[in-house]
Amino acid sequence: MLILGIESSCDETGVALYDTNLDGKNGILADALNSQIKLHAEYGGVVPELASRDHIKFISPLVQQVFADSKKNLNDVDLIAYTTGPGLAGALLVGSTYAESLGIALQKPVLPLHHLEGHLLSPLLSGDLSFPFIALLVSGGHTQIVRVNDVGDYTLLGESIDDAAGEAFDKTAKLLGLEYPGGAKLSKLADNFANKFAENKFKLPRPMLNSGDFNFSFSGLKTAVLNQVNKAKSKILDEQFKQQIAYEFQEAIVEVLCKKVTTAMRQENIQNLVIAGGVGANLRLRREFNDLATKKKFRVLYPPLEFCTDNGVMIAFAAALKFKRFGDTIFKKPGSFDVKPRCSLF
Ligand code: KG4
Ligand code: ZN
Repeated sequence: MLILGIESSCDETGVALYDTNLDGKNGILADALNSQIKLHAEYGGVVPELASRDHIKFISPLVQQVFADSKKNLNDVDLIAYTTGPGLAGALLVGSTYAESLGIALQKPVLPLHHLEGHLLSPLLSGDLSFPFIALLVSGGHTQIVRVNDVGDYTLLGESIDDAAGEAFDKTAKLLGLEYPGGAKLSKLADNFANKFAENKFKLPRPMLNSGDFNFSFSGLKTAVLNQVNKAKSKILDEQFKQQIAYEFQEAIVEVLCKKVTTAMRQENIQNLVIAGGVGANLRLRREFNDLATKKKFRVLYPPLEFCTDNGVMIAFAAALKFKRFGDTIFKKPGSFDVKPRCSLF
């Protein structure tokens, strides 16, 4: 089966072609992406109207690109999978309208998918893992610990009660004067501090570390950073101060995520873990989980770095896994242009 995957929930237009006769990464026949990061940077966040317009501009050229790259053509496609939610309504509508219309024109089935299901299953691109496993989903919109019983069978164990981890990274980066989205830039600053200076000057809180559940709270961390910034004598923050803050902020987030995830694994008696979502690209987080995996003898899988943030491959791949488990019972006749900007996977 050849699956066309389309992602347009936020600020990345992603299109991919996946062949279900192959496994993991090998099934990716072509992958095209347009990131809107530069478009939104001057506004300090995603502007929904601009996002929709940019998806409209790029979706067709990206679809043409994956067919040119893979030397396939539209008629070879057996299934069109796309993100139906959650996300920005206007942005989602571009993907759904395109996918459903293509389905009608080609008389091919469609499969509307939950964005988080795409993230959740994407680490399996990197290798096989037996079910059940624990998934830490850390993106700009979500921070969740999930028990993945099988493809399509998920139990939520805990989640952030306020900001998502990626959101906290981005908001803190903004406080330090880094350009949106600052998550990865903040992480780079932090890694520089760890290399250059031996001792940290102040401590940030580890929110809800010992709350006894699997929930998180990250909005207070951002406020704690704001207090440090306000206390700083000079309003022009010097590089060493920024590095210290970034370092301590990253340590706080990594510590809380690691503790809660390992406790969840112990409670559920599960030795397999996946880390998914944009913050899954964080190298400090990966290093800590790799060390823990060696120490506690569990397996941890990450998506390939380029597929941590939003992309079309994760949508096509999730559709492939669902097809492998459920066959064509999951196929839908095209024609419903509905999107679900706010929807739960559980
Ligand atoms: O999964 P994603 O592309 O979008 C959502 O579905 O939310 O995640 C984007 C988020 C942003 O908040 C971005 O700053 C964060 O992932 N991010 C990082 C890193 N790379 C991306 N956060 C920390 N360290 C990184 N290296
Ligand atoms: Zn995402």
